[in-house]
Amino acid sequence: MTLRIDRDYALELDHADELARFRSEFVIDDPDLIYLDGNSLGRLPKRSAERLREAVEHEWGSRLIRGWNEGWFTLPQRVGAKIAQLLGARTDEVIAADSTSVNFFKLVVAALRARPTRSKIITDDLNFPSDVYLLQGALELLGNRHHLHVVRSADGLAIPTDQLRAAMDDDTALVTLTHTAFKSGYVYDMAAITEAAQRAGALMLWDVSHSIGALPLELSKCKVDLAVGCTYKYLNGGPGAPAFVSVRKDLQDELLSPIWGWFGQRGQFDFQLQYQPAQGMARWQAGTPNILSLAAVEPALDLLLEAGLDRLRAKSVAQSEYLIGLWEELLKPIGVTLNSPRDYRQRGSHVSLGHVEALRIDRALIEDLNVIPDFRYPDNLRLGLAPIYTSFVEIHEAVMRLRRVIVNRLYEKYPSERPEVT
Ligand SMILES: Cc1ncc(COP(=O)(O)O)c(C=O)c1O
Repeated sequence: MTLRIDRDYALELDHADELARFRSEFVIDDPDLIYLDGNSLGRLPKRSAERLREAVEHEWGSRLIRGWNEGWFTLPQRVGAKIAQLLGARTDEVIAADSTSVNFFKLVVAALRARPTRSKIITDDLNFPSDVYLLQGALELLGNRHHLHVVRSADGLAIPTDQLRAAMDDDTALVTLTHTAFKSGYVYDMAAITEAAQRAGALMLWDVSHSIGALPLELSKCKVDLAVGCTYKYLNGGPGAPAFVSVRKDLQDELLSPIWGWFGQRGQFDFQLQYQPAQGMARWQAGTPNILSLAAVEPALDLLLEAGLDRLRAKSVAQSEYLIGLWEELLKPIGVTLNSPRDYRQRGSHVSLGHVEALRIDRALIEDLNVIPDFRYPDNLRLGLAPIYTSFVEIHEAVMRLRRVIVNRLYEKYPSERPEVT
């Protein structure tokens, strides 16, 4: 069956969408703007705006320091427990704290110290570069006793599980990957890779920043050791919102954060001078949590839990299949490539399209056509589909505008230099 490329078909799909009502939960003040960057920074939930106002005016403004005993102190655990539901983890295995980068660093150092006789760390070249920098920094801190093995992708899109498995051996201390690759959207086989890493005697650390909120995760079922991720992409927690860290229950006593702060101290208000790690996930905190940012995350999580990850995943797959269908009909013939896996089972919720002029096309889309995707070096135009608010008609319209930019060469007026942030 060939795909219907008319706008009416997109409207029909929206009409049949059982999650459509969630779109009105978000601030959308420019109905013409097509926002396809929810995989980088999610839209603002109206409930979060309200919650923030209350947190600022009532809790901070009126209650002042009393707020700590009125819900602030336990907020990282409460938010962590909601995130745990999205991770398929136990509620006492997750805490909200710090940034993804900082949490990743804490877990890497802890994991390497827990495998003192081993010296190999495995990652790959599809990983988010910050994770690789953090690995390099951790190795430096630990006296350069380890070496980093970066598995290379043959096509820049995916890495077969067997290729990763082949790199693991009895010297491997840690395997760490980003579950949904930030450029191609490739999704790794979490169960198989975790099992292989553990069979080799290594710990497995997943960065789920590009997966959480877009697809169901099964950390407990996959027996994942460690995970980190951020809350400002599909979780819609707001710019720079606190991240989360997850440690499997049976590892919690064994692993120690390298940052010994008072929020990770057992009985912190005893003010003893000797550090003693708190029980459970509290030890992964360092200093005072960002209460205002955390307050905004909580209602955003409630929305996702209400929508349900199975339904969100089903819509995300339908939308990415629809987008790829339109690409095939309308964009492939004019030189646009698909830089994401064709098989939906190996794809997260963003689709990367390739074009030699992707940087300038991105600019024209944003500045002249009111479409916001993003650009990832060297030639990727990333289109993020956030099923909780993206509509089918937006996808249709985005493809039409993209086609117009290319066919009419509207990008030619822009320089090829990269702006500071893409
Ligand atoms: C996969 C992945 N890991 C880590 C990070 C870094 O997160 P942060 O800057 O919040 O520490 C990002 C940021 O986009 C990311 O996409």
